[in-house]
Amino acid sequence: MTQIGWYGLGSMGLAMANNLQRHLAAKKAPSLLYTNRTMSRGEPLKALGGIPEPSFEQLVSRSSIIFTMVANDAVLQSLLSSAIGSGTSLKDKIFVDCSTVHPQMVKSAVDQLKEQQASFVAAPVFGGNPIAVDGKLVFAIGGPKSATEIVKPLIQDVMGRRVIDCGEDATKSSLLKIAGNIVTVNMMEAVGEAQVFAEKTGLGTGPMEELIGEAFGPVAGGYSKRLTTGAYAPPLDSRPGFGVSLAIKDARYALSMAEEKGVQLPGLEIARKNMEDARDYAGECLDSSSMYGTLRQQAGLEFWNEKSRKP
Ligand SMILES: NC(=O)c1ccc[n+]([C@@H]2O[C@H](COP(=O)([O-])OP(=O)(O)OC[C@H]3O[C@@H](n4cnc5c(N)ncnc54)[C@H](OP(=O)(O)O)[C@@H]3O)[C@@H](O)[C@H]2O)c1
Repeated sequence: MTQIGWYGLGSMGLAMANNLQRHLAAKKAPSLLYTNRTMSRGEPLKALGGIPEPSFEQLVSRSSIIFTMVANDAVLQSLLSSAIGSGTSLKDKIFVDCSTVHPQMVKSAVDQLKEQQASFVAAPVFGGNPIAVDGKLVFAIGGPKSATEIVKPLIQDVMGRRVIDCGEDATKSSLLKIAGNIVTVNMMEAVGEAQVFAEKTGLGTGPMEELIGEAFGPVAGGYSKRLTTGAYAPPLDSRPGFGVSLAIKDARYALSMAEEKGVQLPGLEIARKNMEDARDYAGECLDSSSMYGTLRQQAGLEFWNEKSRKP
């Protein structure tokens, strides 16, 4: 039976790996081998039957399918380099990356692994941590059909509610993810603006939140809750739901690709600048929705609200 390995137990990766392990256990398949830079993050996964394997090279050697869910392109490249440099044969192994990385990174990963007679599947995800916990993410999948057909049953109704097949060109799924984040980041900016408007005009954030959830759907409603619960600026000893630097990375990818193609993304420009200003003011431990803090300051309010962390 196929051995599956997993690297990356951050805000998204841990929830996803937990769901995959539950599925494997229900199927009486071999337990998920896992590793992470911070191994202690894997305790909940271990409690579900996941097996820690501190060495990524060993995990690759022991697994036929290797999932990665990491912060950015540099971390993914370092993992690929250690797998390729380990001397283990990678022939016929399938690497599935669920992180948000640039299409050029995907192209490079495809080429590097092809040389090793291995396959690369790009499977980035839409939805935040609570949706990952519920196993209801939307995946965009791209890669050789021989590999994606093996991977899809490990995703559909396990970690995700929907798998959008972007075809054999893996860069297309990464492109879709970056395009989708234009909507995500603009929506966070719009919800933040509306909530500052509601507060300053005396309307109040409560009715505004009710309307946003009812009229614009649960995703927009969830973004509003990140503001009113203070999750946009969580305590310093916690991990943000979607770290501000990750969202800035995604916005920069979209903006640079748009510039190459002569496309204007003025809304995204404003949101990126507001996120960067938030990070300059309040540091790294911020959610992507923290442009709200900047918008508050621009309106003469404190960056912090009554539920957020304080300076
Ligand atoms: N959060 C969301 O709502 C969301 C939604 C869709 C897509 N994404 C994308 O999904 C990916 C993961 O997001 P996330 O929110 O789970 O991020 P996260 O909580 O910051 O976790 C990042 C993961 O990468 C590892 N990592 C970071 N830097 C590393 C390094 N230098 N060397 C080795 N490992 C390193 C972390 O290890 P440690 O645990 O040791 O820190 C952790 O496993 C990102 O590409 C993000 O853009 C996020």
